[in-house]
Amino acid sequence: METNTTTSRIRIADLNEIDRRGARTVRIHNTEIAVFRLSDGSVRALENRCPHKGGRLSEGMICGSAVHCPLHDWKIDLSTGRALEPDTGCVTAYPTEIDNESGAVYIVI
Ligand code: FES
Repeated sequence: METNTTTSRIRIADLNEIDRRGARTVRIHNTEIAVFRLSDGSVRALENRCPHKGGRLSEGMICGSAVHCPLHDWKIDLSTGRALEPDTGCVTAYPTEIDNESGAVYIVI
């Protein structure tokens, strides 16, 4: 873990451990975080709890830049954590970084 005065950068996976359009989960400071890999290879991270009734977003289907909650199909923007209209609500979205040389995936919290 690399730390500066305001944020922590935590290695959470290797890129090849997450299938495209797939997800895995990590637990950091008692918060479960879903780490998604989009079809373009980029990575996003959200709190793994739907803003509707707490569905596990990591079990949802990735469509474009959103994940469909597996419980009632709300669509959550993978970059912002906001529910797409007509629904409302938001989960925490975490910045991610990929080390292109090692393939390490980091979350910044
Ligand atoms: S719990 Fe996610 S849409 Fe209802």
